[in-house]
Amino acid sequence: MHPTIFVIFGVTGDLAGRKLLPALVTLYSKKLWPQKFAVIGFSRKSFNREEFREFIRERMKIRPGQFKEEEVKHFLDHLSYEQGLFDDALSYDRLKAKFKEIDDRWGQCSNKLFHLSVPPALYQGILKHISSSGMSVPCADDTGWTRVLIEKPFGDDLMAAKSLDKLLGKLFEEEQIFRIDHYLAKESLQNILAFRFANTMFEPLWRREHIDQVHIKLFERGGPEGRGTFYDSMGALKDVGQNHILQMLALVAMETPRSLGSDDIRRERGRVLTALRSIPGQALEKQVVRGQYIGYTNEKGVSLHSQTETYFRIKSYVDLPRWKGVPFYLESGKGLSETKTEIDIYFKNKSDENHRNILTFRIQPDGGIKIRFYVKTPGYSFKTEPKSFRFSYAESRLDHNIPNDYERLIHDAFSGDQTLFASTEEIMACWKFVMPILERWGSLPLKKYEKGTREV
Ligand code: BG6
Repeated sequence: MHPTIFVIFGVTGDLAGRKLLPALVTLYSKKLWPQKFAVIGFSRKSFNREEFREFIRERMKIRPGQFKEEEVKHFLDHLSYEQGLFDDALSYDRLKAKFKEIDDRWGQCSNKLFHLSVPPALYQGILKHISSSGMSVPCADDTGWTRVLIEKPFGDDLMAAKSLDKLLGKLFEEEQIFRIDHYLAKESLQNILAFRFANTMFEPLWRREHIDQVHIKLFERGGPEGRGTFYDSMGALKDVGQNHILQMLALVAMETPRSLGSDDIRRERGRVLTALRSIPGQALEKQVVRGQYIGYTNEKGVSLHSQTETYFRIKSYVDLPRWKGVPFYLESGKGLSETKTEIDIYFKNKSDENHRNILTFRIQPDGGIKIRFYVKTPGYSFKTEPKSFRFSYAESRLDHNIPNDYERLIHDAFSGDQTLFASTEEIMACWKFVMPILERWGSLPLKKYEKGTREV
């Protein structure tokens, strides 16, 4: 594996400690990461090398016993720190000089992978500096690529997303850009495609003639948890609707791709998202519910008079012949009774609505698949009762092999596989679908609900 430098802008933030660094240690310990590597943390705070290593050791969320002490120590030996200001050209020159120093030591032009772990408002400035300092260009013609990982939210509305994407297109080639939606990297979500396309018995049923409705749910018990200010400026629809929920819809509704190659899969996801029917103003009250849990305005960082939604439910349609007339219910909320992400596919039963087969993709927790079917209740009369076929990763003892989402994302970005990253077309289509709703958000009543409720 080619030597690689991983740069984390905003390394002192929550994401780096919670997700990125533990994922890097795991890849390193699984030998899926080059032995010659450096992780450079970039941020404003002042640390010397030792202080930085200690800070990271403390912040890094790893379970006791997850790694051998030796492994963590070796990993930390590859860490270094660059103090800098995000809007200061000299800071980027210093970073570039550090690259040269490391490459000279290794005697090779290494790969460079940049991760923007900073508030989205800083993205454009950082990207411009990476480019103007010459760091977006590989140091040699045939070796050492440069790639950039962009976190969601990708813009905070359609205009901002277009402007960010235009800038990225100007500064980088498409093969260098990895737009993260970490849901795409969840193993149980990728299993939707495997289940659909590897099991031919379901394919003939996967259409409007047999499917009555689809429910996509991303429920969370917790609140914004330390991200109050940011969350309050976004709301649930932008936070998880415009991205995670719609990507789940795309995987359920997409046509069979021509191949399992990244371009074909992304194209098919994009086609579904582009075919989402925009909700007209007069239908808004009928098709959309928004809510806020009682007590949300007392959360840290949240405005006392906040009108931000912590819950939404949308009845949506996909304008493709396969899905004509099939409602897709999209629902998400914080402060609900349980944390679970799940997709339920209800099959039609024209003679008895109460006896519908349901196929459930359980994304988390306890990822798996369940099919509800009916059997005859033993006895003299003809009655039926529901039973289920179930697959669970945990029960099948497959769960220990599941890479977590950030391991998968970093691994794939390193390998240059863009399948689990969103394309421009997908991101724009998602924004186009949610914008008309967001523009009239204020006209919808904000339904208050008790924290921990089962139903809003
Ligand atoms: C993030 C949202 O993108 O996804 C969070 O910003 C949300 O608000 C999180 O809690 C859910 O992700 P996961 O992987 O914990 O289900």
